[in-house]
Amino acid sequence: MTVVTRDAVTPAAFGVPETESQRSTKTPAMAAVDLVEEFPRKTKEPVRALQPLTDRGSREGARAMTMDAEFYSRVAERFGGYFSDARSTDVFADGRPDAVFDELVTALGAPHARLLDVGCADGRSLLRISRAYGAVIGIDLSPSMLECAERFRAESGLEHVTFELCDAARTGLPDGYVAVVTSRRGPLIAHEFERVLRPGGAVVYMGIGEQDARELKETFGRGQNFDSWNSRPLSEGIAQELSDAGLVVTRNQTFHFEEFYHSAGDLDTFLQQVPIVDNYDPAADKEAFDRYVAAVTVDQGVRLSRHWFIVQAQKPAAVEPSPS
Ligand SMILES: C[S@@+](CC[C@H](N)C(=O)[O-])C[C@H]1O[C@@H](n2cnc3c(N)ncnc32)[C@H](O)[C@@H]1O
Repeated sequence: MTVVTRDAVTPAAFGVPETESQRSTKTPAMAAVDLVEEFPRKTKEPVRALQPLTDRGSREGARAMTMDAEFYSRVAERFGGYFSDARSTDVFADGRPDAVFDELVTALGAPHARLLDVGCADGRSLLRISRAYGAVIGIDLSPSMLECAERFRAESGLEHVTFELCDAARTGLPDGYVAVVTSRRGPLIAHEFERVLRPGGAVVYMGIGEQDARELKETFGRGQNFDSWNSRPLSEGIAQELSDAGLVVTRNQTFHFEEFYHSAGDLDTFLQQVPIVDNYDPAADKEAFDRYVAAVTVDQGVRLSRHWFIVQAQKPAAVEPSPS
């Protein structure tokens, strides 16, 4: 079992990815110090303007600027990136999904391999694993998240990583261009992923399961994938989409874990930074919020039960014609 305390710093830091065993030998305080050193908080600075959208579907990209991307842009503008200032102690009975994801994607890397990450948000999760690849591109539909990503990239000095405003459905990349496509709680566009992958290449996708924060959503009467708890597991649907696109699913791993927020205020902060409960409003939702906190507060804190999954798939290698 892994226990990690999030103490007003982001869990995502670039550099050498941590393995599960390394993570579990660190005290929470040590982990927090690492992160603070790697991501010193800075006063807001003007951010280099992003290149305009490339001809890879600029109009489509703009049109596809969904409510989703608008939500993430608001988060980036208000909080300076995609991370939570909320303090919690997280207990991972099935392993820590982000650490497992990092290990899988790092193991697929090679000095000349190209990695495409879709829905990269503020880019820190991508920067953390990027050293395993020769060239890395992160795409997202939120300009504000990408401004944060470019700032973190510049701080990291990682010159082989680029960020672009681009729709995952229309990357415009050549066929067979990348060795690996990743999406960490980002979009899944199976046919586009299959197209840009080279034969033998892999997709690694991390998603949110149907049981995620169920008790919270039931209390609020709404939320991401509301009322899908008794339907087909969402990971199966993702695996099916990848397989329908011609990929071979090699992994479907489930992670149930618990987050214990140190106070009701920490949970409130967290809910403002994520889309778990759509349009969460501390004033309008106060009654439901208080009811939830009263029902789930235990000695360790205010409990939030999470359910994530990782699905991995491979594009079949090209078959050499047999000599006649
Ligand atoms: C949950 S966040 C991803 C977090 C990030 N992968 C990480 O590990 O920290 C989802 C991101 O996907 C982006 N997104 C949603 N639809 C997209 C699309 N069609 N193309 C590219 N990015 C998209 C959103 O703007 C948002 O930044």
